[in-house]
Amino acid sequence: MGTARQLVIAPSILSADFGRLAAEVAAVEAAGADWIHVDVMDGRFVPNLTIGPPVVRAIRKATRLPLDVHLMMVEPEKYFDAFAEAGADGLSVHIEACPHAHRALQHIRDLHMRAGIVLNPSTSEEAIRYVLPAADLVLVMSVNPGFGGQSFLHDVLPKVASIRKMIDAAKLDVVLEIDGGIDEETAGRAVLAGARALVAGNAIFSRRPDYKGAIDAIRAAGEAALEGRLK
Ligand code: DX5
Ligand code: ZN
Repeated sequence: MGTARQLVIAPSILSADFGRLAAEVAAVEAAGADWIHVDVMDGRFVPNLTIGPPVVRAIRKATRLPLDVHLMMVEPEKYFDAFAEAGADGLSVHIEACPHAHRALQHIRDLHMRAGIVLNPSTSEEAIRYVLPAADLVLVMSVNPGFGGQSFLHDVLPKVASIRKMIDAAKLDVVLEIDGGIDEETAGRAVLAGARALVAGNAIFSRRPDYKGAIDAIRAAGEAALEGRLK
């Protein structure tokens, strides 16, 4: 998964038109997306059901972009092989659902995918301190997972900053991603705190058909924060 650009913008297809999923994915790719964020929900870890490996396989055929797969499920390790075979480029698992996080992350790496660890809004950064070197990506949830279109929880920003410090202090090559309620207002705050990959669902897909305008606005807000121009 390349990160040639300074910021990664990852549209979450949870807010896309599922009846036209291939066209939606192609449209955000054409509009400048860096990754496609795929939300997998099992109806147990979160109170919603979405998609599984067959849909990932279908999306794989619709885009060349990396597929950033967010597993909101219990016992996610049962499905790592299936998601790898379906064409996922990265799998992110919740620390709250993974009592053996080193083993889970190593399993993902062994399948040649980016290994991500996710924290719910109420989970302390301390929960991932000792597994950070085993991760390629940390995803901080800025909403309680389960649904798109929720409001950004500003309370998580100090946690983003703490994890940024942990990554930098240990000189780790770990992408810090944020997910939930990201739009052109909150993107700048998140980047200022230390996030470098921004997931956005509602803020992009609600602007159909102007996906380029939506992605450009989020990227511009993030870049303004990086350059110290945040209003
Ligand atoms: C929340 C999902 C998010 C969500 C983001 O459970 O993990 O990826 O789709 O959507 P917005 O940007 O609408 O909050
Ligand atoms: Zn997500």
